[in-house]
Amino acid sequence: MNEITEEQVLNALRVIQDPDLHRDIVTLGFVKNIKICGSSLGVTIELTTPACPVKDMLKAEAEAVLRGMPGVTSVQVEMTAVVRTNKRSNEQLIPGVRNVIAVASGKGGVGKSTVSVKLAIALAQTGAKVGLLDADIYGPSIPMMMGVNEKPLTKTTPEGVRIVPLQAHGVLLMSLGFLIDPERAVVWRGPMVGSAVKQLVSDVLWGNQDYLVIDLPPGTGDASLTLAQIIPISGVVLVTTPQKVAQEIANKAALMFQTLSQEREIPILGVVENMCGSLFGTGSGDADTNQFGRRFLGKVPMALEVSEGGDAGYPVILSHPDSAAANAFHNIASQVAAGLSIIHFSEAESSLVPA
Ligand SMILES: Nc1ncnc2c1ncn2[C@@H]1O[C@H](COP(=O)(O)OP(=O)(O)OP(=O)(O)O)[C@@H](O)[C@H]1O
Ligand SMILES: [Mg+2]
Repeated sequence: MNEITEEQVLNALRVIQDPDLHRDIVTLGFVKNIKICGSSLGVTIELTTPACPVKDMLKAEAEAVLRGMPGVTSVQVEMTAVVRTNKRSNEQLIPGVRNVIAVASGKGGVGKSTVSVKLAIALAQTGAKVGLLDADIYGPSIPMMMGVNEKPLTKTTPEGVRIVPLQAHGVLLMSLGFLIDPERAVVWRGPMVGSAVKQLVSDVLWGNQDYLVIDLPPGTGDASLTLAQIIPISGVVLVTTPQKVAQEIANKAALMFQTLSQEREIPILGVVENMCGSLFGTGSGDADTNQFGRRFLGKVPMALEVSEGGDAGYPVILSHPDSAAANAFHNIASQVAAGLSIIHFSEAESSLVPA
């Protein structure tokens, strides 16, 4: 019997398509580390995010394809991931952060902080390195939702004094809530908001992170505007509820991001519809989302365990890991990660095409 060659293995794997990137996994360069030992094969498939929604499917397909090769008796497929980045990750401001995900809503109280917290934890649970920044200077709620409230330590570095982020549920976190005195009402004026938010990004030792999730203030006010201008946001997640009004306002926020910068459009990763259920009725979100050409990232049911987990600082993903809400958040995290991979991929491709 002839020896199996690396080329044969690659040719066999070419039938497997990445459904989001619309290329085969060999062309995409995902196949690494082919090991051939007699009739035993081992390959590593390196995806663009550990939160890949089709990770299990790709693994099963690869195993089936390789097992089907003549002369093969045993197959081992290992799945790994290296999160991609692009020029949007600002080298100066946050050098180690590969992707900045801004969570925004037009309207307050729709569940922006809830989604930010669960998105961050769900991404971290896939193995990604994740930071969470509460930039909602009007009502920082991440400390409570993450069950952490202490003064962060500072550290003197060659670049100056830096803040060491806190950590909870596998996520690094920072909030203005950790720094301001809750007894003293803060009146924020425009320029103060800008510099406070900028400091929260640049003066914190984020280190190397695959994803930094930012909970923006509601609406299209100063802090959102400043953030969107100073931070190279990789993509925006819009949160809305099934109510028409909330959706219309969310679309206004989306337009703000898209028209904000002269140099580049900030991509909208998609829309999360939160608090779904009989209370507000369901369904209208899908149509609106499609109408505006935005990806629908998922629906989160209205559920007591979501609000209770938020109040207790023990998010639903951990307290009720098998609940519909926890499932919804895991799926949303996968969709968000996949959306970022698609953006990076299409930018890399378009930069290869001569103008
Ligand atoms: N799916 C859900 N089911 C039940 N309760 C929810 C759900 N999502 C959010 N909540 C609750 O609704 C309230 C508002 O949510 P949250 O604080 O996340 O909204 P927000 O958009 O960040 O609000 P704000 O504009 O004040 O920052 C919270 O008490 C939260 O626990
Ligand atoms: Mg909030």
